[in-house]
Amino acid sequence: MRNSKGIAFEVDRAIFEITKQNLLTLYSDIELVNGHYKSLLSNYRFPTDYFIVVYVAPPWGDALNEITGLDLRRTKPPITEIVDYVDDLYKKQPILWVTKVHQTVHPISLADLKKRFAWSALRIYDINIEGMKHGVLLDRGSVHHKGGARHQPMEARQPSSKFRPR
Ligand SMILES: C[S@@+](CC[C@H](N)C(=O)[O-])C[C@H]1O[C@@H](n2cnc3c(N)ncnc32)[C@H](O)[C@@H]1O
Repeated sequence: MRNSKGIAFEVDRAIFEITKQNLLTLYSDIELVNGHYKSLLSNYRFPTDYFIVVYVAPPWGDALNEITGLDLRRTKPPITEIVDYVDDLYKKQPILWVTKVHQTVHPISLADLKKRFAWSALRIYDINIEGMKHGVLLDRGSVHHKGGARHQPMEARQPSSKFRPR
């Protein structure tokens, strides 16, 4: 993504170290921080004309079942709680949510997440065998913060000059 900077959180020290090594092999401007996202995220504040993309990468906790697949309610905390926390922290900025999903995702957990947003799109990528594919759920326009700036459609906002295509 042009004109952007990534900030990533990983609470598990061993996975943090592996992820750090993986990131070194990529050309990316991503700052990886070891710790709990909730205690660290409030250190990061942005101008109101910044667009925020939040990428959440389950599974962890009890979210993955061999037969029923990914259940977005069974991460600890559930993905919807993360959405509520981050939405509240950045209520002045538009947020595009990108949640990693497996091809087999519990339908009620998916519906629960989608209904919190004005717009959602599920994309499954053709990069593994049938049944083992991964994808993303894209969401925007949280309906949780009624009356807030969040309800203004993204298209209606003037992007900051930092984000205008060259
Ligand atoms: C699918 S793994 C992703 C691993 C690796 N960070 C990556 O991006 O390739 C999900 C990760 O979320 C981490 N995680 C769970 N709760 C977290 C939290 N509250 N703050 C930061 N990381 C968390 C887990 O430790 C787990 O490694």
